Amino acid sequence: MSLEVKHLSYSYNHGSAYETRAVDDVSFKIDKGDFVGLIGHTGSGKSTLVQLLNCLLEPSEGTVLVDGKDVFESEDTKRANRFKVGLVFQYPENQLFEMTVYDDVCFGPKNMKLADDEIEKRAKRALSLAGVEEKDYDKSPIALSGGQKRRVAIAGLLAMEPDILILDEPTAGLDPMGREDILSELKKLQKEHDMTIILVSHSMDDVANYADKVLVMDKGKLILDGDVSAVFKEVDLLTSVGLAPPEISYIIRDLNEKGFGIDTDITNVEDFKVELLKILEKRRGKFRKEGIKKNSKDFSAAIQVDATAKGVKHD
Ligand SMILES: Nc1ncnc2c1ncn2[C@@H]1O[C@H](COP(=O)(O)OP(=O)(O)OP(=O)(O)O)[C@@H](O)[C@H]1O
Ligand SMILES: [Mg+2]
Repeated sequence: MSLEVKHLSYSYNHGSAYETRAVDDVSFKIDKGDFVGLIGHTGSGKSTLVQLLNCLLEPSEGTVLVDGKDVFESEDTKRANRFKVGLVFQYPENQLFEMTVYDDVCFGPKNMKLADDEIEKRAKRALSLAGVEEKDYDKSPIALSGGQKRRVAIAGLLAMEPDILILDEPTAGLDPMGREDILSELKKLQKEHDMTIILVSHSMDDVANYADKVLVMDKGKLILDGDVSAVFKEVDLLTSVGLAPPEISYIIRDLNEKGFGIDTDITNVEDFKVELLKILEKRRGKFRKEGIKKNSKDFSAAIQVDATAKGVKHD
């Protein structure tokens, strides 16, 4: 399922003195199976944009096309789109209100008026996909930790089997472990189920580590749209709108200044690790030939010598 946004605009308090153009003439296209990071400074229009994608808000201008069809055509198409394009709000755990985790996840499919056995099948599948443990199914949602609640909320959305899953800051307020867990589950959903995912995030590192494409918003406008490596190379533009490229970009820049020659397309830690090990192995081979023993204390010295030979200055 493809998603296309064409000249989309939205103003709050339209026509009043307090009018705010939160989304301003935004156009882009997302293909099936893409994992897209949506980033931007606070107030740049991210949440407004995703609510338009899910038909919770009606555009002032422009439209959203799903598989080429205008989702705002009628009340029926809008309703159908809310199931196809699932939106997990920021702090979704505040919206868990059923007596048990299991009942909460069944709420969406029940609302879709599905048969009981289908509801059960979907709820169990969604709970397992979101990494909720079976022992928690009968617990009250309020008895769970923040990370577990977040998973239940995501499961509730997955049970409706959306084609596109949008998450507005899904890791806000979670500890680093909880964050990694949720993001890895999302990556698995993309890889194993070819799900299209839009991740709204303030963390450039999370976007660099998990997304393939990035949309950057500033004051309601879409200012960058492209592959992760291309977008994060725009250091000056990102900095000018209050965003910092991922930490790894700075590390690569510093190492390259020391003559390491690391591929500057790399933006995530995993790829960086593979590249660095390759380079170190190559250097080890070279040093061995020159008589410097593997694992010798001279290794860092050898790197210095190697870099100095290339005329690179050291701190
Ligand atoms: N309900 C509302 N009524 C009036 N203005 C609003 C409303 N919600 C958002 N805005 C304004 O619209 C603009 C975009 O807000 P939005 O919440 O979409 O930004 P955001 O990028 O999601 O920000 P954040 O990163 O803080 O979540 C801001 O100027 C905001 O003040
Ligand atoms: Mg927001």
